[in-house]
Amino acid sequence: MNILDSFKLNGKSALITGASSGIGKRVALGYAQAGAKVAIVGRNLENAQKAATDISAQTGAEVIAISADVTVQEDVDRMIAEAVDVFGSIDITVCNAGIATVTPILEMPLDEFKQVMDINVNGVFLAAQAAANQMIKQGAGGSIITTASMSGHVINIPQQIAHYCASKAAVVQLTKGMAIELVDHKVRVNSVSPGYIMTELVEPYTEYHKIWSEKIPMGRLGTPEELMGIYLFLASDASTYMTGSDLIIDGGYTAI
Ligand SMILES: NC(=O)c1ccc[n+]([C@@H]2O[C@H](COP(=O)([O-])OP(=O)(O)OC[C@H]3O[C@@H](n4cnc5c(N)ncnc54)[C@H](O)[C@@H]3O)[C@@H](O)[C@H]2O)c1
Repeated sequence: MNILDSFKLNGKSALITGASSGIGKRVALGYAQAGAKVAIVGRNLENAQKAATDISAQTGAEVIAISADVTVQEDVDRMIAEAVDVFGSIDITVCNAGIATVTPILEMPLDEFKQVMDINVNGVFLAAQAAANQMIKQGAGGSIITTASMSGHVINIPQQIAHYCASKAAVVQLTKGMAIELVDHKVRVNSVSPGYIMTELVEPYTEYHKIWSEKIPMGRLGTPEELMGIYLFLASDASTYMTGSDLIIDGGYTAI
């Protein structure tokens, strides 16, 4: 076996939630470059279609757009059904959609707390559960990857994001729990925990960029392109002995 061949995704199909922008869009690009057929899922079909057209033009891969809100069970079921209709199977699913807000915990309205939990935790649960059931039905196993965060491991300051940290810690544990329950079905489940990555999610928080950079041992935020390799590794046959793991990619932030 040539190790580089094990990273190829030819003949596989992948679905990525929250893939119209940021990390998800780069993961989709990486999978398309590696030979997979890719479904881009976003709440807004026009944005998802734009990302799909971009990636298809760059790679020549078959890339489709699906609109779904990951917090809505019917949307999630339809999202899997639409991808299976077109591709015939789903071998890789990345549960990546997520949001963040900054609000001190003492002033946090219950609705805001619930919204972050709903998208970041319930949305990951629904998408991962639906993908796992489809993979089990297909009978050949698969790889599910969740996007957690270094905020699931440490409380990163000065921004006040206790709710976000709690949601991402839940994603890390949900991932491990699913990995163990699905092990006999050959469905692997792992999470990626990024540190600060310059995407649409963090760009608006300009007041923090310098403060964050000074706290990161590498002295800068990461780029979404710098995560493409780790998501490809977890999706591919290069990681066949890996399940229930969490990979932190944070420029050294949580090492100190
Ligand atoms: N950027 C960072 O520094 C960073 C660090 C750690 C973890 N993360 C996580 O990475 C993931 C991707 O974030 P990003 O930085 O690429 O930001 P982003 O805002 O570009 O991507 C998030 C995507 O999720 C989509 N989304 C939100 N709610 C949704 C819903 N209910 N249904 C479907 N899609 C929905 C958004 O429209 C967006 O396209 C998130 O889970 C985020 O928490 C980001």
